[in-house]
Amino acid sequence: MAVLEILKYGAGILREKAEPVSEVNDEIRVLVKDMLASMYAAEGVGLAAEQIGRKEAIFVIDVPVEEACGVAMPLVLINPVIRELEGEQCGQEGCLSFPGIYIQVKRAEKVVVDYMDLDGQPATVEATGLLSRALQHEIDHLNGVLLIDNMSAVQKVAHAGKLKRMKAGRL
Ligand code: NI
Repeated sequence: MAVLEILKYGAGILREKAEPVSEVNDEIRVLVKDMLASMYAAEGVGLAAEQIGRKEAIFVIDVPVEEACGVAMPLVLINPVIRELEGEQCGQEGCLSFPGIYIQVKRAEKVVVDYMDLDGQPATVEATGLLSRALQHEIDHLNGVLLIDNMSAVQKVAHAGKLKRMKAGRL
Protein backbone atom coordinates (compact mmCIF):
# COMPACT_ATOMS: atom_id res chain seq x y z
CA MET A 1 0.00 0.00 0.00
CA ALA A 2 1.40 3.36 -1.00
CA VAL A 3 0.45 6.98 -0.50
CA LEU A 4 0.91 8.53 -3.93
CA GLU A 5 1.25 12.11 -5.04
CA ILE A 6 -2.05 13.62 -6.10
CA LEU A 7 -1.80 15.42 -9.43
CA LYS A 8 -2.85 19.05 -9.53
CA TYR A 9 -4.72 21.03 -12.14
CA GLY A 10 -2.40 21.37 -15.13
CA ALA A 11 -1.45 17.68 -15.28
CA GLY A 12 -2.46 16.44 -18.73
CA ILE A 13 -3.97 13.14 -17.66
CA LEU A 14 -6.67 14.94 -15.66
CA ARG A 15 -8.17 15.99 -19.00
CA GLU A 16 -8.29 12.51 -20.48
CA LYS A 17 -11.17 10.07 -20.58
CA ALA A 18 -10.72 7.03 -18.37
CA GLU A 19 -10.54 3.53 -19.84
CA PRO A 20 -12.96 0.79 -18.76
CA VAL A 21 -11.56 -1.97 -16.57
CA SER A 22 -12.11 -5.40 -18.11
CA GLU A 23 -11.27 -7.53 -15.10
CA VAL A 24 -10.70 -7.00 -11.38
CA ASN A 25 -7.29 -8.59 -10.86
CA ASP A 26 -4.48 -8.14 -8.31
CA GLU A 27 -3.20 -5.07 -10.13
CA ILE A 28 -6.60 -3.38 -9.77
CA ARG A 29 -6.86 -4.40 -6.10
CA VAL A 30 -3.44 -2.85 -5.39
CA LEU A 31 -4.44 0.28 -7.30
CA VAL A 32 -7.60 0.63 -5.21
CA LYS A 33 -5.67 0.21 -1.95
CA ASP A 34 -3.22 2.90 -3.06
CA MET A 35 -6.09 5.19 -4.04
CA LEU A 36 -7.75 4.77 -0.64
CA ALA A 37 -4.46 5.35 1.22
CA SER A 38 -3.75 8.44 -0.89
CA MET A 39 -7.27 9.83 -0.38
CA TYR A 40 -7.11 9.36 3.40
CA ALA A 41 -3.61 10.86 3.62
CA ALA A 42 -4.90 13.95 1.79
CA GLU A 43 -8.07 14.03 3.95
CA GLY A 44 -10.31 13.95 0.89
CA VAL A 45 -13.77 12.38 0.53
CA GLY A 46 -13.19 11.14 -3.02
CA LEU A 47 -10.40 10.31 -5.45
CA ALA A 48 -10.37 9.23 -9.09
CA ALA A 49 -7.60 7.07 -10.57
CA GLU A 50 -6.57 9.88 -12.94
CA GLN A 51 -5.61 11.98 -9.93
CA ILE A 52 -2.76 9.58 -9.22
CA GLY A 53 -1.85 9.28 -12.89
CA ARG A 54 -3.81 6.16 -13.84
CA LYS A 55 -6.33 5.77 -16.65
CA GLU A 56 -8.57 3.06 -15.20
CA ALA A 57 -12.23 4.05 -14.80
CA ILE A 58 -12.19 3.78 -11.02
CA PHE A 59 -12.87 6.09 -8.13
CA VAL A 60 -13.14 5.78 -4.37
CA ILE A 61 -15.37 7.72 -1.99
CA ASP A 62 -15.58 7.91 1.79
CA VAL A 63 -18.08 10.40 3.18
CA PRO A 64 -19.11 10.65 6.86
CA VAL A 65 -21.69 8.07 7.93
CA GLU A 66 -24.43 10.70 8.39
CA GLU A 67 -24.01 11.65 4.71
CA ALA A 68 -23.64 8.10 3.39
CA CYS A 69 -27.35 7.42 2.61
CA GLY A 70 -27.01 4.06 4.38
CA VAL A 71 -24.26 2.95 1.99
CA ALA A 72 -21.22 1.24 3.56
CA MET A 73 -18.04 3.27 3.19
CA PRO A 74 -15.52 3.31 1.62
CA LEU A 75 -17.17 2.94 -1.75
CA VAL A 76 -15.14 1.64 -4.70
CA LEU A 77 -16.72 2.15 -8.11
CA ILE A 78 -15.31 0.54 -11.25
CA ASN A 79 -16.69 1.48 -14.71
CA PRO A 80 -19.45 3.68 -13.24
CA VAL A 81 -22.35 4.81 -15.41
CA ILE A 82 -25.00 7.32 -14.37
CA ARG A 83 -28.44 5.77 -14.80
CA GLU A 84 -30.53 8.56 -13.33
CA LEU A 85 -30.21 12.20 -12.27
CA GLU A 86 -33.02 14.04 -10.53
CA GLY A 87 -33.65 17.40 -8.89
CA GLU A 88 -31.13 20.05 -8.03
CA GLN A 89 -28.82 21.02 -5.18
CA CYS A 90 -26.25 23.74 -4.77
CA GLY A 91 -23.38 23.36 -2.34
CA GLN A 92 -19.72 23.88 -1.67
CA GLU A 93 -17.30 21.69 -3.54
CA GLY A 94 -13.55 21.21 -3.45
CA CYS A 95 -11.12 18.84 -5.18
CA LEU A 96 -7.76 17.39 -4.17
CA SER A 97 -6.43 18.50 -7.56
CA PHE A 98 -7.42 22.12 -6.74
CA PRO A 99 -6.04 22.55 -3.22
CA GLY A 100 -7.45 25.50 -1.31
CA ILE A 101 -10.25 26.23 -3.78
CA TYR A 102 -13.88 25.76 -2.74
CA ILE A 103 -16.76 26.90 -4.92
CA GLN A 104 -20.53 26.63 -5.03
CA VAL A 105 -21.54 24.06 -7.65
CA LYS A 106 -25.01 23.14 -8.87
CA ARG A 107 -25.57 19.38 -9.08
CA ALA A 108 -28.47 16.96 -9.29
CA GLU A 109 -29.94 16.24 -5.86
CA LYS A 110 -30.32 12.53 -6.52
CA VAL A 111 -28.20 10.18 -8.58
CA VAL A 112 -28.35 6.48 -9.40
CA VAL A 113 -25.07 4.94 -10.57
CA ASP A 114 -24.44 1.44 -11.93
CA TYR A 115 -20.91 0.10 -11.51
CA MET A 116 -18.77 -2.97 -10.96
CA ASP A 117 -17.62 -3.64 -7.40
CA LEU A 118 -14.24 -4.89 -6.20
CA ASP A 119 -15.48 -8.48 -6.52
CA GLY A 120 -16.21 -7.85 -10.20
CA GLN A 121 -19.95 -7.95 -9.55
CA PRO A 122 -22.51 -5.50 -10.95
CA ALA A 123 -23.80 -3.09 -8.31
CA THR A 124 -25.92 0.04 -8.01
CA VAL A 125 -25.75 2.97 -5.62
CA GLU A 126 -28.51 5.51 -5.07
CA ALA A 127 -27.64 8.71 -3.25
CA THR A 128 -28.72 12.21 -2.33
CA GLY A 129 -26.95 15.13 -0.69
CA LEU A 130 -23.17 15.01 -0.24
CA LEU A 131 -22.77 11.43 -1.47
CA SER A 132 -24.68 12.28 -4.65
CA ARG A 133 -22.47 15.35 -5.14
CA ALA A 134 -19.31 13.28 -4.61
CA LEU A 135 -20.45 10.63 -7.11
CA GLN A 136 -21.18 13.28 -9.76
CA HIS A 137 -17.83 15.01 -9.08
CA GLU A 138 -15.83 11.77 -9.42
CA ILE A 139 -17.66 10.68 -12.59
CA ASP A 140 -16.74 14.10 -14.02
CA HIS A 141 -13.08 13.21 -13.34
CA LEU A 142 -13.38 10.00 -15.36
CA ASN A 143 -14.63 12.11 -18.27
CA GLY A 144 -11.79 14.61 -17.95
CA VAL A 145 -14.13 17.23 -16.50
CA LEU A 146 -12.70 19.28 -13.62
CA LEU A 147 -13.82 21.66 -10.91
CA ILE A 148 -12.76 24.66 -13.02
CA ASP A 149 -15.30 23.64 -15.68
CA ASN A 150 -18.02 24.19 -13.10
CA MET A 151 -16.76 27.65 -12.17
CA SER A 152 -18.61 30.76 -13.22
CA ALA A 153 -16.62 33.60 -14.81
CA VAL A 154 -16.74 35.42 -11.47
CA GLN A 155 -15.39 32.37 -9.59
CA LYS A 156 -12.58 32.00 -12.14
CA VAL A 157 -11.57 35.62 -11.66
CA ALA A 158 -11.67 35.22 -7.87
CA HIS A 159 -9.28 32.24 -8.04
CA ALA A 160 -7.26 33.36 -11.09
CA GLY A 161 -3.93 33.72 -9.29
CA LYS A 162 -4.12 30.32 -7.63
CA LEU A 163 -5.29 28.61 -10.85
CA LYS A 164 -2.43 30.15 -12.81
CA ARG A 165 0.17 29.02 -10.28
CA MET A 166 -1.36 25.53 -10.17
CA LYS A 167 -1.35 25.18 -13.93
CA ALA A 168 2.30 26.25 -14.01
CA GLY A 169 3.11 23.59 -11.41
CA ARG A 170 3.98 26.15 -8.76
CA LEU A 171 1.40 25.25 -6.14
NI1 NI B 1 -11.86 16.09 -7.60
